[in-house]
Amino acid sequence: MAKLTFYGHATFGLETDDGTRLVIDPFFGDNPACDVSVDDVAADFILLTHGHHDHVADAMPLAERTGATIIASFEIASYMEGKGFPVSPQHIGGGVEYPFGYVKMTPAVHGGKLDLPDAEGFTTVPGGFLINLTGGQRLYLAGDTALTFDMQLLKGLVDVAALPIGDRFTMGPADAVRAVDFIEPDVVIPFHYNTWPAVEQDAEAFAAAVGDRARVEIMVPTDVFEF
Ligand code: NI
Ligand code: MN
Repeated sequence: MAKLTFYGHATFGLETDDGTRLVIDPFFGDNPACDVSVDDVAADFILLTHGHHDHVADAMPLAERTGATIIASFEIASYMEGKGFPVSPQHIGGGVEYPFGYVKMTPAVHGGKLDLPDAEGFTTVPGGFLINLTGGQRLYLAGDTALTFDMQLLKGLVDVAALPIGDRFTMGPADAVRAVDFIEPDVVIPFHYNTWPAVEQDAEAFAAAVGDRARVEIMVPTDVFEF
């Protein structure tokens, strides 16, 4: 079984069947949704969907302490490499086979500024991740994105889909339901909501709107979902 831990907002931990530990979009210290310290999280790989503060704020402290390899777009990976961290650059549509599984970057429609010191030259496009674990599980982390027609390409390829529902900066609940129609996952995990008043949403109402299209797992910070 793989274990997906929700740390609030857009931060997830993923422990695979073979014990590899991934952290996606590490945002701990400034994250009002979660009390976990970045110092208490283990990582072999750090995946970054895009450069906004609420996705990369704790990437460097976590990489520094753990020695984890950072998987991100070429531009963000180049920045991190310049800071001395091990990286695996990728880009939209491209996948890489890692010991724990195959990771493909998927398109996201959103902003791409890298919110880190001296990073003006490393602005990039945002993305998501489609992760095919060696254990057979297929996880789609949409990242911060609008609803896109591109999501129809994921139909039949995803078991568990993590979708933003916060509205304002990403899809809202109604568009996330349409994304579920496009993707047809077995399980949907909403994220990027209730972190601040600006992205307040009713996850129970979202689950009701998804209805029998998929099972909705509403995770509160530190919840673990096994699949
Ligand atoms: Ni963002
Ligand atoms: Mn965000």
